[in-house]
Amino acid sequence: MTNSVKACLFDLDGVLVDTAKYHYLAWKRLAEELGFAFTEQDNERLKGVSRMASLDILLSIGGISLEEAARLELAERKNNWYVDMISKMDRSEILPGALEFLQECRNNGIKVALGSASKNAMTILNNTGLTPYFDAIVDGTKTAAAKPDPEVFTLGAAELGVSPEECIVFEDAEAGIEAAARAGMRSIGIGSEETLGEANLVIPSLEHMSYRRLSELQA
Ligand code: BG6
Ligand code: MG
Repeated sequence: MTNSVKACLFDLDGVLVDTAKYHYLAWKRLAEELGFAFTEQDNERLKGVSRMASLDILLSIGGISLEEAARLELAERKNNWYVDMISKMDRSEILPGALEFLQECRNNGIKVALGSASKNAMTILNNTGLTPYFDAIVDGTKTAAAKPDPEVFTLGAAELGVSPEECIVFEDAEAGIEAAARAGMRSIGIGSEETLGEANLVIPSLEHMSYRRLSELQA
């Protein structure tokens, strides 16, 4: 990695907060109401994917095909359960190392943006107290195309006034790592090498990241 890093772009679910479990519980409940099982392994396929695309994957697992109106109703039902769960969130659900690294970025003049597919991002940021850490927030309410389309990160860089090669994306989903690459940005995968092997670096959590380590990447 040779270009200097001027900005860090963070995915939200699974990188900064542990909301993947709530998405899973709500999708599982929906699958059960529809009469089929939905496992944690199935859930891996939904990570980073938009709400409607997630529903389509879930329905394909259950072998169910439905009209647009019925699909919208199911997505809304799942979202209501999910919103119920995230409305009770607080700072304790920020993932280990996230707050410390966001603060370090700010202290060292690295710009910080959110790049999330979620339309519920603002509720989560406000409930966990994370909102003030961001210079730009791009979420599912501002984008037309979902990851692996690069739009969410391209918009984030534009809002920050930096070029793609000056950005590092932090992602826990394969679709997000691909989106970063398509945006011309470097990426750091949060999770396992097995699923995120395309990232420039993979670490288990933000506890393993620091401004010092970021500086080493620029050397
Ligand atoms: C992503 C999650 O961040 O947001 C996906 O990884 C989720 O699992 C997507 O489907 C959309 O979220 P929401 O909150 O708009 O339904
Ligand atoms: Mg994620």
